[in-house]
Amino acid sequence: MDHSATTPVDPLVVDAMLPFFTETFGNASSLHSFGTEAAEALSKARKQIAYAIGALPEEIIFTSGGTESDNLAIRGVVPFNARKKHIITSVVEHPAVLNTCASLESLGHEVTYLPVDADGVVDAGKLEASIKENTVLISIMHANNEVGTIQPIEKLSWIAKEHDLYFHTDAVQSVGKIPVNVDDLGVDMLSISSHKIHGPKGVGALYIRKGTNISPIVFGGNHEKGMRSGTENVSGIVGFARAMEIAIERLETDSGHMNKMRDSLISRVFDTIPDVRLNGHPSARLPNNVNVSFKYVEGESMLMMLDMQGVAVSTGSACSSKSLKASHVLSSLKIEDDFIHGSLRISLGRENTMEDIDYVVNALQETIAKLRAMSPLAGK
Ligand SMILES: Cc1ncc(COP(=O)(O)O)c(C=O)c1O
Repeated sequence: MDHSATTPVDPLVVDAMLPFFTETFGNASSLHSFGTEAAEALSKARKQIAYAIGALPEEIIFTSGGTESDNLAIRGVVPFNARKKHIITSVVEHPAVLNTCASLESLGHEVTYLPVDADGVVDAGKLEASIKENTVLISIMHANNEVGTIQPIEKLSWIAKEHDLYFHTDAVQSVGKIPVNVDDLGVDMLSISSHKIHGPKGVGALYIRKGTNISPIVFGGNHEKGMRSGTENVSGIVGFARAMEIAIERLETDSGHMNKMRDSLISRVFDTIPDVRLNGHPSARLPNNVNVSFKYVEGESMLMMLDMQGVAVSTGSACSSKSLKASHVLSSLKIEDDFIHGSLRISLGRENTMEDIDYVVNALQETIAKLRAMSPLAGK
């Protein structure tokens, strides 16, 4: 129930990867046959990833994951030595975007963090109004990792196009859950991560539209056309591409299945547990995301008690669950404090079943009843 944090690697992906550890272990830059075989595998994987998002193979740069892709997109188009440049992003972005922007601010660049409405949506009018003469880049995520809200990227990227600005989207949570096509979305750069789609960890890609003026942030032996030096993680990339192939093949079936489980979980929680609210957009949300807040209970206590019953969920984002601070995403949705502290993210995966949903609903009912019985505030 925590698939937005990570997913199990599909056994078919493991099978695809195994030969690349022991038999086809060459360095893709070597000129002998071991190297050529590895280079061929890379080229096939690049085509598979490109095909899945409607891009050209030469527009795909392999990276170590979503975080590096976000860093490359943002730092790559904002040159260190340029005069003061302006970037527009939103307050609900993943730390991979927010902290990259903060690092550029410390170097003297300017960043506008757009607010969101109560459902977590960025307003196109506010985006347009924040454009300045020195703006170079707009970076708005496709789907939020905590509350699942899907942004109107087509509308937002159109504004970027009209003002001749680059548009980057972090699609780490949306790929494999909803259709993602770089032309339909109208984006210049798009980040993907393998471990969110049943692939191995530590692999990802950045789509860079042909003609985008971008510099590398990692230098070395000029791998990935000089855009990302470092010997390619061939087995990981092969696994990533296989995971993507499976995700695309199963997209309709899996998202239909997750939608059904999500809606059943939400309606049963609302029917049986009082003082609950749904966080994030009611309909423009990922098929696998349920983010709910319960009054009079602490997210951390619910998380621990559910864990003892074999149910893994998160409170806020996985990255911030070790801190007791209210998540920056929930805070930006202006949820009252009573609710913020009792928030849970339940993120479904394709291997979950309706029986799992029954189990989770029961576990939630029991857990919340027990915690509320101990709370001095409940029932007042
Ligand atoms: C929206 C979003 N962007 C970026 C990342 C980082 O991806 P990775 O773990 O591959 O570095 C995550 C991971 O949680 C994410 O949810």
